[in-house]
Amino acid sequence: MNSLKTLSMSVLIGSGLLATSCNNPSENKEATTVKAGITKADWGETDSSKVYLYTLTNAKGTEVKITNYGGIVTSFVTADKAGNKSSIVIGFDSLSGYLAKPPYFGALIGRYGNRIGDAKFTLDGKEHKLAANNGKNALHGGLKGFDKVVWNATTVSDTIPSLTLTYLSKDGEEGYPGNLKVIVQYTLTEDNELKIEYNATTDKATPVNLTNHSYFNLTGDVNNTILNHSLMIDADNYTPVDTSLIPTGEIKPVKGTPFDFTTAKPIGRDIDSVPGGYDHNWVLNSKDGSLQKVAVLSDSVSGRSLEVYTTEPGLQFYTGNFLDGKFINRDGKAINLHTALCMETQHFPDSPNKPNFPSTILQPGQQYHTETIYKVVLNK
Ligand code: GLA
Repeated sequence: MNSLKTLSMSVLIGSGLLATSCNNPSENKEATTVKAGITKADWGETDSSKVYLYTLTNAKGTEVKITNYGGIVTSFVTADKAGNKSSIVIGFDSLSGYLAKPPYFGALIGRYGNRIGDAKFTLDGKEHKLAANNGKNALHGGLKGFDKVVWNATTVSDTIPSLTLTYLSKDGEEGYPGNLKVIVQYTLTEDNELKIEYNATTDKATPVNLTNHSYFNLTGDVNNTILNHSLMIDADNYTPVDTSLIPTGEIKPVKGTPFDFTTAKPIGRDIDSVPGGYDHNWVLNSKDGSLQKVAVLSDSVSGRSLEVYTTEPGLQFYTGNFLDGKFINRDGKAINLHTALCMETQHFPDSPNKPNFPSTILQPGQQYHTETIYKVVLNK
């Protein structure tokens, strides 16, 4: 697969605790500074495992909160052009919000991001059956994917704060073959980049497609939809889908269709011509697996832009078509249709059943390594 590279992992250093207190009434828990730019607070317990909330802060005052439950980015607070701070991702301030199973808010997704048709695939002559958790298809790793497990967390900080999450997905978990050791590293840089590095190794051949499912609203207020955000995606082609959102296998040009985001345009401009809204995989123009800028999302009111860089060949652009007000954001406002969007960097959906798509099969002895950066830029 073209995203495989030799991996050089930094040695993980244990955490030396320095006690300070941090007032955050919404969490009502004492946070401890564990490394420069990182605090850690107790966040409850599930599956007999302790859950923590880590806060990564840079000198610009940008703050990212991540929990080891599901590797979820719960908040990403940045200043707007007037200097007012708010979170550009939706989320909750308590673990119970996430245990109520929102649709993957902020979570790490695996072992296979997006759908596998008919919840099955054949690998080396053997059929593997997965749970059908989305109609007849498998979605986002199954009934209990990587978004619903407790990860082991280690903090790292030389000059920039970083959180390393590890998880062992056992052979047969959710129907997937092989013990898969996964390491995800989140780093907040001084350039307001949230960098996510995904690494994995296996002892049996298995499909792997890891991503993050943050829902962005650059206004920081879910009373606004994302239809006025403008978006550029550097992709001349996309993968059309059938009625159950499984790719047909075709790779079609976006030119002359509502899927053409090669030049930035408001998301709402053509959305009504796409039944249900955008929920498709764009075939990125970047080809060689190097880290490249693939999308830019902008909101003129807040002055925020979000640049997306990735080594991955695909981008799932999803306009929150299933958001229906059932979940309430941290500020008490209902999360309604199109009030947030996802840009999930990935390999193409259903690749294990589509021989013409780039392979997602990781072999024993290979290193899975992909990188994605979400960078916030202010346009004043
Ligand atoms: C992805 C899928 C969507 C939907 C959301 C979660 O973006 O492509 O169809 O399942 O996740 O609701």
